Amino acid sequence: MLSIRRLQLGPMANFVYLVAPAHTDRLAVVDPGWDAAAIEAAAEAIGRPVTDLILTHHHGDHRNAVEALLDRGAERVWVHRAERPWLQGLGWTDHCHWLDGGDRIELGPGAALTCIATPGHTPGSQCLLGDSERGPALLTGDTLFIDGCGRCDLPGGDPAAMYHTLYGILGNLDGQTRVLPGHDYAPAAEAALDDQRRTNPYLGFASVQAFVDYRMRPRR
Ligand SMILES: [Fe+2]
Repeated sequence: MLSIRRLQLGPMANFVYLVAPAHTDRLAVVDPGWDAAAIEAAAEAIGRPVTDLILTHHHGDHRNAVEALLDRGAERVWVHRAERPWLQGLGWTDHCHWLDGGDRIELGPGAALTCIATPGHTPGSQCLLGDSERGPALLTGDTLFIDGCGRCDLPGGDPAAMYHTLYGILGNLDGQTRVLPGHDYAPAAEAALDDQRRTNPYLGFASVQAFVDYRMRPRR
């Protein structure tokens, strides 16, 4: 069982999640960006030091507090293997554990996050699925937002892969799963996946091409 606490940090309205498993002293931070001091203060309120850093993808706004948190005692960084080339040159990749889709990050007895490979926004984007105190929870990074989805026009982006991710991979998940996105881009901070299937315009396309055309429409 996982207790999940959300922080909103930085100039891009990033959501940073503190994931505290029961029956262990480990504490994971998903997408540690912008403000190591604020993350550490939240960890102190929980009563544990940060031990694990988990990245949904390589973009700087989701990992620019990694180095500071490693300096303050965090032990390891979990990233999908396909993000490795994009992290080259950073000083902390020796701390990385490289994941494949289906791998589990075991945080404690009966407390794990399962990695789901969800390419599209970046080649190694991943969502993390776990059993939270409020039911199944899916940490989606920049793959799925509340009533939106991640851009596919940045380096490594692939809108056809995003279609397969949203419809083929995430399409199989339990509708009661809570979507916990990587940015605060909507009036609601989270929503059930079934609600998103009704209201999210990116989940309403009947063909890959229609989805790709909409996702890649010129930005205003
Ligand atoms: Fe991103």
